[in-house]
Amino acid sequence: MQGQTRHLWRDVTLFDGLQQRPGPMAVVVAGERIESVVPMAELDRLDHAGVIEAGRGGVMTPGLVDCHTHLVFGGHRADEFEQRLEGVDYETIARNGGGILSTLRATREASEHDLFQAAAPRLQAMINDGVTTVEIKSGYGLNLADELKMLRVARRLGEDFPVRVVTTLLAAHAVPPEYADDSDAYIDLVCREILPAAAREGLADAVDVFCEHIAFSPAQCERVFAAARQHGLPIKAHVEQLSNLGGAALAARYGALSADHVEYLDEAGIAAMKQAGTVAVLLPGAFYTLRETQQPPVDALRRQGVPIAIATDANPGSSPLFQPTLMLNMACTLFRLTPQQALAGMTAHAARALGSNAYGRIADGARADLCWWDLQSPAELAYAVQPGRLRQRIFNGEVTHG
Ligand code: NIG
Ligand code: FE
Repeated sequence: MQGQTRHLWRDVTLFDGLQQRPGPMAVVVAGERIESVVPMAELDRLDHAGVIEAGRGGVMTPGLVDCHTHLVFGGHRADEFEQRLEGVDYETIARNGGGILSTLRATREASEHDLFQAAAPRLQAMINDGVTTVEIKSGYGLNLADELKMLRVARRLGEDFPVRVVTTLLAAHAVPPEYADDSDAYIDLVCREILPAAAREGLADAVDVFCEHIAFSPAQCERVFAAARQHGLPIKAHVEQLSNLGGAALAARYGALSADHVEYLDEAGIAAMKQAGTVAVLLPGAFYTLRETQQPPVDALRRQGVPIAIATDANPGSSPLFQPTLMLNMACTLFRLTPQQALAGMTAHAARALGSNAYGRIADGARADLCWWDLQSPAELAYAVQPGRLRQRIFNGEVTHG
């Protein structure tokens, strides 16, 4: 297109975790999209008159996609970290009014401005680590005003930072104190007021639930899924994190984009996910923080061909970890993914867990969301946890880092 700036990276090793591209490659970006990806030997056949040389050598990957975060929240939970070190477990803390409910109090007290200010450095850290798309959930407001407040903050972060923010309504995250004795009445509120308002105001791109003994039953989650469907919103679900309630199979029946955590997932759940095209989102940061020992069924997921995504689950309780590249390392070390699988899990498969294939890939016509790394070989990205290796981050065709 005339007037569109075109940039060329030459002699790069391309690594998207999906396909092997032996030998050095050339990547041309025109405006907001990837125009062409060719082996260096074929560069001459491209019309690259007037193209600006943007870089040579190194490793190029898609921009990282963190498809599961709780980045907007008030306060912190360092006190619970100390309690857990003394042997009190996550569920016990939650049952005693801590956990999500502790963050609920701090989040309700915070203004939109406060929440934005608190989330901004976390988001900046992720951007500096190579993130170009991040999903952000609500779930610490648990009433109409405070859930919408969280989603507005998430939207504003996406407007003010060079990153794509995808929002998810997680009003069914925990039973708020006002409904302690009547969680069904809270689900009524979610389905009749909070979800419709979020949909009406265009604040949510998807709807999520926490299906667990300490949160909501499968029957309650199903009501939320039905309401989401009525409002045309796709669903996701926190399932089989602490026990197996069959939440993944239920979510898959509603065509869920993803089922997340899934340490306790069984064969029936995997088969249902495969049939529905639901992505399994593994969250090694929560596994590590909670000292979980039940491994997610990685081999069975692979055998069935269920796509596996990796995310930070960045949140103040179960995963206060805001470094996506650390998750690549943890996915390999803790879950035995290969570096290629881990990267696919934080790019193409993560994009799919957000319902998109427009980004997260290095291919002609895809969005030019890219990372150019100071590395010699792709596996180094997951192998070492070493900040400072990102030379350039390209978001929507614009170099925003390096
Ligand atoms: O993904 N599982 C439930 N929700 C979050 C934890 C939220 C919290 O502890 O604040 C998770 O692990
Ligand atoms: Fe989560």
